[in-house]
Amino acid sequence: MFPPLSRHVWSLSRTTAFLAILWLILRLARDSPATTTTTTTTSSPSSHSPHAADADADAIARQCRLHGWKPFLPAGGSPRQRRKVYDLVLVNTELDQLEIRLNTTFAHVDYYVLVESARTFTYRPKPLHLRAALAGPRFAPYASKLVYHELEFPPGYKPRSAWQIEALQRNALFTQVFPRLARERDVAGSSSSGGGGGGGGERAPSPGTRFYYYSFQWLHRGPEWPHPQATYYQGLQGTVLPEDLRMGIGGKGPWPLRELRRWWERGGVSNASWHCSSCFATVGEVVGKMGSFSHVGLNKARFRERGWIVERVRNGRDLWDRKGEAYDRVDNNTDVPEFVRQNRDRFAYMLDRDGPSAGFVDSEPEKGGRER
Ligand SMILES: *[C@@H]1O[C@H](CO)[C@@H](O)[C@H](O)[C@H]1NC(C)=O
Ligand SMILES: *[C@@H]1O[C@H](CO)[C@@H](O)[C@H](O)[C@H]1NC(C)=O
Ligand SMILES: *[C@@H]1O[C@H](CO)[C@@H](O)[C@H](O)[C@H]1NC(C)=O
Repeated sequence: MFPPLSRHVWSLSRTTAFLAILWLILRLARDSPATTTTTTTTSSPSSHSPHAADADADAIARQCRLHGWKPFLPAGGSPRQRRKVYDLVLVNTELDQLEIRLNTTFAHVDYYVLVESARTFTYRPKPLHLRAALAGPRFAPYASKLVYHELEFPPGYKPRSAWQIEALQRNALFTQVFPRLARERDVAGSSSSGGGGGGGGERAPSPGTRFYYYSFQWLHRGPEWPHPQATYYQGLQGTVLPEDLRMGIGGKGPWPLRELRRWWERGGVSNASWHCSSCFATVGEVVGKMGSFSHVGLNKARFRERGWIVERVRNGRDLWDRKGEAYDRVDNNTDVPEFVRQNRDRFAYMLDRDGPSAGFVDSEPEKGGRER
């Protein structure tokens, strides 16, 4: 179904604490009343003064030069206009990570599109954790930028594989949400004058991600995590879909051109974000994740055993005993999201897995052991 390289990338991403992520950079080409309101309420305070806007422009130009890019200039628009940034997140159970993400990027993102499914990747029913949480106070500080959508399965949907369900869920971040956004917030208006260009190609430079496992104490050995990806909004029909973007496939034009363009547009900024895989507060979530993701082959009884999970996580060893999956210990890691640093006690499990319970809050402490 996927080329071998993609398959490898795919398998690395299986156990992600965060699913299906991409930045969708949307060109704000025209100041319609609807978009003006949005921009005013969401742009950082500094961009309201012309002086600060110049400083911003300088900083952007410097940053671009480092990578050989050119700053985006809206066609015929004022340099104060800018693209809107949409962050598309498929949410499973990882509400801590979601909160950290929102807190960390809130000033830079215009909207977070959050899609949640009432079924797992293996098509079993599951509770809508996020919907429940959104009814409470926890996410209230971020509510102004959240666009929630419960995944809709097509009528009579008969999935042939877990991969197919996962692709459907990921693509739904765009296909099930943006038509509505286009109607309600005039995103279509801004894209039509954006034309084909969008200030670049189909795929935008994407962040390279520091790839941790279990906590910020265990760094995955090997290359950076190659997600999330970014793209430009090119209308409801023309935008690269999340699944193609993530897998590095698809694109416009005939085959050799398509490949060439993808190669040309590869690259991004190294060490630009964090990813913490299987970063869970409870053993229950680890087990739940094992049962809900697409690698049904790895979902064996012995891997779901509490003692096994605690031992693996505490010692930074692979949960599934996979060959070549190794994690290097980082002592007293300070390169963690600010929000985690500010809330050390709450996120203790993300910083330290050394205790007898490996930081899991639902684990039985061993006899004679001291809970940390
Ligand atoms: C992020 O969290 C800090 C507390 O750790 C809080 O002061 C701040 O207001 C939060 N940011 C947003 C955008 O809510
Ligand atoms: C990644 O960036 C952070 C923050 O700038 C820095 O502290 C850290 O040393 C960098 N890590 C690597 C491997 O470059
Ligand atoms: C990490 O911090 C602890 C407590 O602050 C200290 O005892 C320990 O020596 C530090 N470890 C390293 C490798 O720096």
